[in-house]
Amino acid sequence: MPEENGNGNAAHPDVLDKSYHLMATMMASASGTFSHARAVAGLLDSLGAALGMDTVRLRLLRIAGYYHDIGKTVSPQLFTENQADGHNPHKELEPWVSHLLIMAHVGHTASILTNDDNIPREVVQWCSQHHGTSVMRYFLVKSGSENTDRFRYAATRPQSMEAALLMICDIIEAAARSKSQSGKLGAIDKFVDGVVDSLIKDTQLDDVILRVGDLGIVRRVLKREMESMYHDRIDYDDAKKERDSKGEGREGGEGGDTPKTEEEVDSQPE
Ligand SMILES: [Fe+2]
Ligand SMILES: [Fe+2]
Repeated sequence: MPEENGNGNAAHPDVLDKSYHLMATMMASASGTFSHARAVAGLLDSLGAALGMDTVRLRLLRIAGYYHDIGKTVSPQLFTENQADGHNPHKELEPWVSHLLIMAHVGHTASILTNDDNIPREVVQWCSQHHGTSVMRYFLVKSGSENTDRFRYAATRPQSMEAALLMICDIIEAAARSKSQSGKLGAIDKFVDGVVDSLIKDTQLDDVILRVGDLGIVRRVLKREMESMYHDRIDYDDAKKERDSKGEGREGGEGGDTPKTEEEVDSQPE
């Protein structure tokens, strides 16, 4: 029996290898998106293992983590994580135009992955649901409109546990990075619970069968992962504040803000 697509056998190239054409394209043209995707894949790995998924399932989840935003390679500059040069095209655009342009990455992702026979079809489905029908709050606020629905992603809410995990990890990763950079991350427990609760409140997880116990595991694992990911950063910030307050030094190795992932962060229904 032939092995499943994407699992790296001789008949099918390993889609998770950095030399795979989609991976290579993302690394070369959208390095910020690649960093985000790698981190999301890492979180999904931890969650999948904690939930007792088998190796085949874990691999599918990892592929989804890496490729859920591959559509951003069509116009990398539109996404803040790729604006290392500081140029943000949205400054000159109407909020509803920005909304359409950002939203397009979901369709582009589905299109790119659908056209690649090495990507398992389940993964295409999960990726196409990774923003569900969430709101791009940043552009809603910028528009001054109160019509929340006008700034929602026009997609399908997660229909499976895997798609829900992808959605949760995606927002957690992007929001934590953004809030950490602006010094607003706060208590990790509160942050993780806030993200999960807001998704539930916005009905984004309504189509998914998820045991309460599993959701508890998701919260616990994400809190642990975020703690370990941001522990050093928090220590560094504290040390820097202390040093600055004594007037002893200047900013060292960490030069400036790494761009945040605008559309994920702002889709968080707070
Ligand atoms: Fe996305
Ligand atoms: Fe993402």
